Amino acid sequence: MRTLSLLTLLTASSAFAAVDHEAAFKADIAPIFEKSCVGCHGKDKAKKPKGGFDATSLANVVKGGKENGPGITWGNVAKSSIFKSCELGISNPSDDLAMPPEKAKSRTPLTKDQLAKLKAFIEAK
Ligand code: HEC
Repeated sequence: MRTLSLLTLLTASSAFAAVDHEAAFKADIAPIFEKSCVGCHGKDKAKKPKGGFDATSLANVVKGGKENGPGITWGNVAKSSIFKSCELGISNPSDDLAMPPEKAKSRTPLTKDQLAKLKAFIEAK
């Protein structure tokens, strides 16, 4: 019974969390990634996503890719590889971490407004 009540408590507290990351991801972030990222990161389920990074679900976005640590560390853009790579994609496309990569045939880097949205999403409490 103890376990059961703890489980109930956990479920209840997550249901009332201040920010619903999943809903915010769907509303604000997924449409951005759809345009700029998923072509190489998860859209074609028959192919492995580049760098082991799948941008099509929040769980996988949080996980990140193979080499550069977590995609998202909540509250900390400096420790969120997706933020760094999108920022470099605008400010310094020739950097190795920049996304979309400079060498891509056609690339749609985020706009500054979209980058601001991504920052707000990661920092929301
Ligand atoms: C044209 C293809 C392409 C597009 C578009 C693209 N990427 Fe990538 N991405 C790659 C490749 C290739 C890698 C593997 C590492 C490398 O070679 O640079 C990678 C790796 C990554 C990684 C994993 C880094 C690690 O930890 O190993 C992340 C995170 C990432 N990309 C994020 C993004 C985001 C966010 C976008 C959209 C803004 C994006 N990518 C758009 C090709 C792409």
